[in-house]
Amino acid sequence: MSLPPALRRPRRLRRNPGIRALVEETRVGPSDLIAPLFVTEGGGAPEPVDSMPGVVRWPLDRLAEEVRALADLGIPGIALFPVTDPALKDDHGTAALDPEGLVPRAVRRLKAAVPGMLVFTDLALDPFTRHGHDGLLTADGQDVDNDATVEVLARMAVLHAGAGADFVAPSDMMDGRVRAIRTALDAAGHASTGILAYAAKFASAFYGPFRDAVGSASAAGTRALDKRTYQLNPANRREAIADALLDEAEGADLLMVKPAGPYLDVIAGLRAATRLPIAAYQVSGEYAQLHAAARLGWLDLERTRDESLLAIKRAGADVILSYFAREVAAGG
Ligand code: PBG
Repeated sequence: MSLPPALRRPRRLRRNPGIRALVEETRVGPSDLIAPLFVTEGGGAPEPVDSMPGVVRWPLDRLAEEVRALADLGIPGIALFPVTDPALKDDHGTAALDPEGLVPRAVRRLKAAVPGMLVFTDLALDPFTRHGHDGLLTADGQDVDNDATVEVLARMAVLHAGAGADFVAPSDMMDGRVRAIRTALDAAGHASTGILAYAAKFASAFYGPFRDAVGSASAAGTRALDKRTYQLNPANRREAIADALLDEAEGADLLMVKPAGPYLDVIAGLRAATRLPIAAYQVSGEYAQLHAAARLGWLDLERTRDESLLAIKRAGADVILSYFAREVAAGG
């Protein structure tokens, strides 16, 4: 028989650190985190990204050093994003399929230098196209050509897998790409290369600083690159979950929701709808806003950082991509 409500004292479980630790439901540790890393050609000093304090573009010659440090901190994986020389960009994203391109070279070096670190590579054309879209444009230039893009993504996947990527991560939101990528990987003998699908990726304004970091916004000559014909409408949860479940049906190994913090309901909804592990990407704008407020003295950076990651895990994410990964793992 239950006690009368007046006699319940929930605060007993909050009285001191010992009891609070015993009943704590969610913890975020290094093994939950994947660190996104920007890579550029060459050596020299890492270049800071202005709108992402503490984040740099790593010259290829320095990348392995950073990845070894992340491995020593217990971070199991990194997600690689290339900053492409604008001279190599064209309307077809040709550089994406160069076997000697920045990404395949970076993957080969990392897997040789730090074999235990999982390497996730991004499959999308925006780092390589002049217009900054994630795919090839239709002949009239008015839309992204779904099926032509999917063919290129599948070839990119085989290239990355051949270089040693553990997972390929299609972030383009084309229809049918996961099936095409799985089929191409298997046909090329890469049955154990996994697919982390950006399964529910929204057309979000929170990607702004990332586009500065990789130069995909300026490449298009416009800041407000409109990806709404392929990325999800931020208003739609049901559509997001249905789209994510298609990626599962097509053979994705992990499903990602992106952005993370503003879409916790989507993470929780997807958690209830699938048995696959769920990843969530705390994107550049989520990172930048905490830094900006902290700089103004309006928020405590470490505490809001930790709380933001906890909320993402509590909502149901097993894996979190975050620009805070290194400092959180370092206990800073
Ligand atoms: C594009 C891609 C984007 C991000 C990761 N992959 C940006 C976009 O869709 O324009 C954003 C990540 C971030 O904001 O941190 N393929």
